[in-house]
Amino acid sequence: MAILKVARLGHPVLRQPARPLSPEEILAPETQQFIDDLIETMREYDGAGLAANQVHVLKQIAVIEVQANPRYPDAPEIPLTVIINPVVTPLTDEMEDGWEGCLSVPDMRGVVPRHTAVRLEFHDREGARQVVDAKDFFARVAQHETDHLNGHVYLDRMRDLSTLSHIAEWQRYWLGVREQGD
Ligand code: NI
Repeated sequence: MAILKVARLGHPVLRQPARPLSPEEILAPETQQFIDDLIETMREYDGAGLAANQVHVLKQIAVIEVQANPRYPDAPEIPLTVIINPVVTPLTDEMEDGWEGCLSVPDMRGVVPRHTAVRLEFHDREGARQVVDAKDFFARVAQHETDHLNGHVYLDRMRDLSTLSHIAEWQRYWLGVREQGD
């Protein structure tokens, strides 16, 4: 296990699409080790999710987990989910504004509109095909992480940059003003 270095905004790797993995690649020992390292890195930095691009690896792998997260104390829990080659399809036209942060955009928060329900199709770490209908916070994180794998960050999805805030000012002026999310 190893804690990986996280790329910050401006590093080109965050703007490049990651490539899909074949079933054989998913099961390869080096991929399994990488998934373990991605999970450990997400937990070390209290991320709600982490995509491979964020640790300088252009492969379609991301991890999601929320359990008593100090960065998102009010967020509902999400069990550890490893998503490989994920595809997100909106299940509704309904969009909801919520606060997001990102380990690659340190100490910032901004309001991002996201679909409130999405179908998430992916391979798990055993290579099995999974289809999960995700709602609300889980849907938000799934959209955020899948965006990373396609070379997008949450700033690209903001309709209005006026909410973009440093964490200290966010806590002072914005916390509780709108529903919190990631
Ligand atoms: Ni992020």
